[in-house]
Amino acid sequence: MGKLALFGGPRTIGDEQHLRSSWPDMGLERALCEYTGAKYCKCVASGTAALVSGLFAAGCGLGDEVLTVAFTWTATVGAVLRVNAVPIFADIDPRTFTMDVEDARRKITPRTKAILPVDFYGHPAPIPELVALADEHGIPVVEDACQAATGEIDGVKLGNLAHFTAFSWSGKPIYSPSGGGAYLTNDRRLFERGLLAGQHPTVIQGLAHDPDVVKYASMGGTGDNLRAVGTDAMQQLLDADVRTNARIRNCDWLTSTTRACGACRATASSRR
Ligand SMILES: Cc1ncc(COP(=O)(O)O)c(C=O)c1O
Repeated sequence: MGKLALFGGPRTIGDEQHLRSSWPDMGLERALCEYTGAKYCKCVASGTAALVSGLFAAGCGLGDEVLTVAFTWTATVGAVLRVNAVPIFADIDPRTFTMDVEDARRKITPRTKAILPVDFYGHPAPIPELVALADEHGIPVVEDACQAATGEIDGVKLGNLAHFTAFSWSGKPIYSPSGGGAYLTNDRRLFERGLLAGQHPTVIQGLAHDPDVVKYASMGGTGDNLRAVGTDAMQQLLDADVRTNARIRNCDWLTSTTRACGACRATASSRR
């Protein structure tokens, strides 16, 4: 054994190698970055935890508005309330059941701190258009892709499109019996601030560089525990596209058979 840090040996805490070996989520995080093309990923306790991390990272707090949709699972709105913000509902497009960009534009106010679209039934919301709208206002899109972890738009995987994206493993395209989820982003600042919503101090200390984040690291940010479970979702990630493509084929068949809404050609699976 080498010299202990106490006696002048190499420091292990705060070193990525240490984190890799100590936290089982690290392998899945790297795989998710590779799969989606996103730069940063953190596995967390659930999709809800990922949404809370995103809204916290966006700086949402008391009285701020988060523009979202009512046609969703309760956790979307629950996450907004969890950070003491106010949900403001934009209409949905009757064809895709996802956020209507023009109505979102109408409902943005100076108090809007984030746009939270939902990829409902696995169908991606119009993320590029919403990102453009959010950029006009200097706020992030925190995408609820909990039902759409394998989805993509024009060949770009979800996770690599919005400012911040939340995935869930509970009964979704990528599944773990113990649940869990992850957040993905290309924005280092959002990645680091998201850690403060509920990661263990050693994880924050190991991953964060921003002094504004590091100063709260030793107490674990908010003190919540949103730490990863469900890291066995890795197995599902390996053949996620095969299963998603089978679902798309089934959906196409159903659509052509029933002549139902053509918009249900989801790029990810439907829920549960
Ligand atoms: C649209 C949507 N958002 C968020 C969540 C929350 O995910 P989790 O159950 O992993 O917290 C779900 C889960 O069903 C969902 O369907």
